[in-house]
Amino acid sequence: MREYTPETITDAVIEQMSTTPDPRMKEIMEAAVRHVHAFARDVNLTPGEWIKGIEFMTKVGQMCTPARQEFILLSDTVGLSALVNIMHDKTKMEEATGASLLGPFFRENTPRFESGAQIATIDKGGSEVVLFGRITNAQGAPLPGAQVTVWQTAADGRYDIQNGIEEIDCRGIFTADAEGKYVVRTVRPLGYFIPLDGPVGQMVMAQKRHGKRPAHIHFLIAAPGYRELVTALYLAGDEHLDDDVVFGASGDLVAEVKADDPASPIKGVASIHFDFSLARESEADRRAGRVGSDPGAITAGNGKATTPYGAPPPEMLAAEQPKKGGIFSGLFRGK
Ligand SMILES: [Fe+2]
Repeated sequence: MREYTPETITDAVIEQMSTTPDPRMKEIMEAAVRHVHAFARDVNLTPGEWIKGIEFMTKVGQMCTPARQEFILLSDTVGLSALVNIMHDKTKMEEATGASLLGPFFRENTPRFESGAQIATIDKGGSEVVLFGRITNAQGAPLPGAQVTVWQTAADGRYDIQNGIEEIDCRGIFTADAEGKYVVRTVRPLGYFIPLDGPVGQMVMAQKRHGKRPAHIHFLIAAPGYRELVTALYLAGDEHLDDDVVFGASGDLVAEVKADDPASPIKGVASIHFDFSLARESEADRRAGRVGSDPGAITAGNGKATTPYGAPPPEMLAAEQPKKGGIFSGLFRGK
């Protein structure tokens, strides 16, 4: 009989998994086992901490519905989504607009609009903003017909999907014109707390983090033959541009809201001018996928009701200061 030690158990697992026929699955699982074993040895993981981790991951899974993706939120808040996104962005064939996070609020079910239409269709107040610019290739030539999908919070700082799967607001698909131009009318988005009413929120609050994202507008831009661009524009002046809780904001994607830009196609309304360029698509790009998904595509048919979520606890709103609580409280006490 073999006897395992903390030093030999890792190789024993990898040896047993060596029959894996898929080479990429074999590579990923071997590395995952090496890293997770090294992590357990590094921190001297106790049985109690191990079961806390299992409870936490169980709660993350139980929180997922067709309208909520708590695992993407977890990946976002520990910077894994940003890391995968940055690594992927570096593989593009040519210089083009940088990528940002798709986040947990993207959905496939998005209405199409005529150029210049208002995407805030439910009146929740807020001040109007026009988004305009051009979609080009890396050399600056226009990409007529490029598909521009935008989504953002309403003026109350919440995404439609947080109010249940039935509500569709502040998102739309536009088509670039013959000169590659797009025009979107919307309301100014607000910076927001990520959903703090679940296990990921409990983790963020236990870590005394502020839990906020800077105000931004998501874009997904596609044109045949070009790498799909998943990105976002971050509003200049937001106090959380440098400490985004999901590490998505970056300097090259900061956009200014101008009160009276003469270049704006709609007069008398504040506007953001941003030109996007797309890199040509490689063979690998076609298989690369996205760092994110419509939650409904992952959790389809789990039968759970979709109820409003993501309202920060009143004390977080009042103080905008992280607070101790939940399953993380006490776990790391005194360490
Ligand atoms: Fe967002």
